[in-house]
Amino acid sequence: MRGDVNIKTIVIEGGKTLSGTINISGAKNSAVALIPAAILSDEEVIIDNLPNISDTKNLVEILNILNCDSKIENSSIKINTKNIKNVLIPEILSKKLRASYYFMGALLSKFNYVEMYFPGGCNIGSRPIDLHLKGFMKMGAKITIKKDKYTLQAKNLKGANIYLDIPSVGATINLMLAATKANGITIIENAAKEPEIVNVASLLNNMGAKIHGAGTATIKIEGVSKLSKARVEVIPDRIEAGTYAIIGALCGKNLKISNIICEHIEPLLSKLTEAGAEIKYDENSIIINKKTNYKAVNIKTLVYPGFPTDLGQPFTVFLTQCKGISHFEETLYENRMGHVSYLNKMGSLIKSHAQCLEIKGPTSLNGQIVTATDLRAGAAMVVAALLAKGKSIILDAEHVLRGYENITEKLSNVGAKIEIREIE
Ligand code: UD1
Repeated sequence: MRGDVNIKTIVIEGGKTLSGTINISGAKNSAVALIPAAILSDEEVIIDNLPNISDTKNLVEILNILNCDSKIENSSIKINTKNIKNVLIPEILSKKLRASYYFMGALLSKFNYVEMYFPGGCNIGSRPIDLHLKGFMKMGAKITIKKDKYTLQAKNLKGANIYLDIPSVGATINLMLAATKANGITIIENAAKEPEIVNVASLLNNMGAKIHGAGTATIKIEGVSKLSKARVEVIPDRIEAGTYAIIGALCGKNLKISNIICEHIEPLLSKLTEAGAEIKYDENSIIINKKTNYKAVNIKTLVYPGFPTDLGQPFTVFLTQCKGISHFEETLYENRMGHVSYLNKMGSLIKSHAQCLEIKGPTSLNGQIVTATDLRAGAAMVVAALLAKGKSIILDAEHVLRGYENITEKLSNVGAKIEIREIE
């Protein structure tokens, strides 16, 4: 045990061929925004297709602290805010995940007052929240910051024209939440366009909000005073789907990835195709096979609909199998290369210069003891370990479990030898 936390490892015997079907769960990055969004309603909200991952469990703990009733049955959560109390969320919980910051927008919108700690999340860069705060201030909030504690209050939140310097997912959603009950019209320009934002706007509109343009660079929100009961389904997780598609391209034999929205993972699928992958598309699924003659490709991470930063690390593993030199550039975060030294330990030939990688392939990978330095670096380790010869042990596997529902069951069902072990 480390404090009160179990130390989990993922143990993988690599080199197996994977066949069968992997069903994709609800999107982590939608679910973690939909739960805070639900507290804006004065009645019951149901969220279907909720992924069973530690990030959603931590948000349910925050709901308990706020005295909101919630009940999870199958993969649906019912949330009722009848008895909600606007209390401070403990620092330890805020720091367990990035998305705790959505309670800032939601509580500010509902009570015109919120006290919150700086959020946690993967250590992949400085990850400031200045754009969120500037937006709240434009809407009339006064902000006091003491160390990591933020107090935001407004007499009345009012609609505002907000231009985001960077199309930030977090800022777009947080400001949308705050604007939903503000007086007047808010326009968010240079908004992020990720599908998860559209999912959150759908729930809010189902509750009675008036949001137009989610999914485009300009979102218009006309504030309303009351929000009522609603139901929404979490969209399929495009990052989970993409991770399994990469695994399919490396280890699959007719590996089917189902319950996906193909359009959401097109930036990845088109790169895999450019490298030589053959992907069969169906309406809500793809079938992918391992090939041996992939060619090097270049890629840069971008905001949606560009190549997602969250797939950059797993995709690096694919690039180790491509013939020639591939160039990879991470453009969103300044510290998203934690996987590289471990991949090189397994046998890859990757040179890194700041956030740029030069990957020489193909190289065969061997099982090793490695560490999941963050969620998607952990996903990259899983991909590499499935491909590698021999046994790998991935330390700090809690990171992976934050974002991948039932990862061991899903992979075992298609033929992988994978298990989670707890170190006492
Ligand atoms: C979300 C996702 C994360 C994904 C990222 C980019 C969630 C819970 N997380 O993170 O998985 O990797 O989008 O697709 O949905 N920035 C600022 N100031 C701000 C806000 C952001 O400078 O106030 C910068 C960040 O440092 C980063 C970039 O903008 O360089 C993108 O950040 P953002 O889109 O906000 O990412 P997150 O919402 O944290």
